[in-house]
Amino acid sequence: MSEIRVHVSLSERSYDILVGPELVASAGERVAEWLAGRFGKSATPAAVVVTDGNVAQHAQAVQESLEQAGWRVGRINMQPGEQSKRLEVISSAYDELVQFRTDRQTVIVAVGGGVVGDAAGFIAATFNRGLPFVQVPTTLLADVDSSVGGKVGVNHPQAKNLIGAFHQPLGVIIDTHALRTLPEREFRSGLAEVAKYGVILDAEFFTFLEQNVDAINAREDGVLAEIIARCCQLKADVVEHDEYERTGLRAVLNYGHTFAHAFEALAGYGELLHGEAVSIGMEYAALLSLRLGRIDAEFCARQTNLLKALGLPVALNLANPISGDEVIERMLLDKKSVGGTLRFILPTRMGHVELVSDIPVDEVRKVMQELGIS
Ligand SMILES: NC(=O)c1ccc[n+]([C@@H]2O[C@H](COP(=O)([O-])OP(=O)(O)OC[C@H]3O[C@@H](n4cnc5c(N)ncnc54)[C@H](O)[C@@H]3O)[C@@H](O)[C@H]2O)c1
Ligand SMILES: [Zn+2]
Repeated sequence: MSEIRVHVSLSERSYDILVGPELVASAGERVAEWLAGRFGKSATPAAVVVTDGNVAQHAQAVQESLEQAGWRVGRINMQPGEQSKRLEVISSAYDELVQFRTDRQTVIVAVGGGVVGDAAGFIAATFNRGLPFVQVPTTLLADVDSSVGGKVGVNHPQAKNLIGAFHQPLGVIIDTHALRTLPEREFRSGLAEVAKYGVILDAEFFTFLEQNVDAINAREDGVLAEIIARCCQLKADVVEHDEYERTGLRAVLNYGHTFAHAFEALAGYGELLHGEAVSIGMEYAALLSLRLGRIDAEFCARQTNLLKALGLPVALNLANPISGDEVIERMLLDKKSVGGTLRFILPTRMGHVELVSDIPVDEVRKVMQELGIS
């Protein structure tokens, strides 16, 4: 099977995303080609692979491929998990880069999920005023979401992703075989974002997902490459029109996320994976849209059925139940709320969503009651 190429067109920051099986083995040649395209051919190319302990096997394969292609390669290992998106971790990575004698053409290669990608990307955006950067994502969420679009950053103790930058990569290498070692729950969590793309932007893709549930659940290479490439293309189209999140277009990607962020925060980070919260959030948003007369019951049934078929939760079932008022309070704190009313991305038909402002809190409360939170 050959690779699929998705081009992200951002004038001089344009780049390719390659998707297919066993791409990691040729990472060295590809990164060399991309670097030469940007800086001309270098006699002694150097790279630092940033990764975490759970993906050591994939990082090693990337490192070997670079070394075989004649690169000088360093390695920065982070602890797996969200707590690595911290300035202290970044600061000690800077120390390692100084030791490595990093120069302007040293490529930072992120091998891992969204945590590694965001942290390594932030290092690349800031060290020496910006280093070339390549993403080798290894979770489905990173494949279809965090590795596309150039948003990089770390958390502040008070808020997620508060410190960051826009830093587009030289290229992205998505090896579908890397997903073979991904734990089942993490894989399913990524599928929530995949289903989201169908609902918000592409009715035909939603139908494709419905028709290929078994192959997706079996993680078949061909279907994985196809859905990942399609999601990257859909996100790239949005990013090309709103690279710096100024026009509001990029907000469509937040479908289900206003509820999801509130659920994640109230459940205590850890109980719900992000994609699980997004799946449930999409169900709440769809029901809200139904109540407001924007979609019909058939739309809701299709979404529910697909999410369930992909093994995702469609209702909240927390160890410590949360109240509707807590959820609303959280959502009012979210950056998408203005002046005491709520704003949501809501579907109007399959493949199309709109940003809807001034939604009365009471309507939202009724939806929550219907779905079992009072
Ligand atoms: N920059 C963006 O646009 C953007 C978009 C969405 C999410 N994010 C960020 O992404 C992060 C979440 O990313 P994530 O869901 O990939 O989580 P993650 O990076 O924490 O990965 C999840 C877990 O899976 C492990 N893992 C990764 N790949 C593996 C593999 N192939 N085999 C076995 N284990 C593997 C990781 O070590 C980790 O324990 C969050 O910090 C979020 O803020 C960023
Ligand atoms: Zn998300």
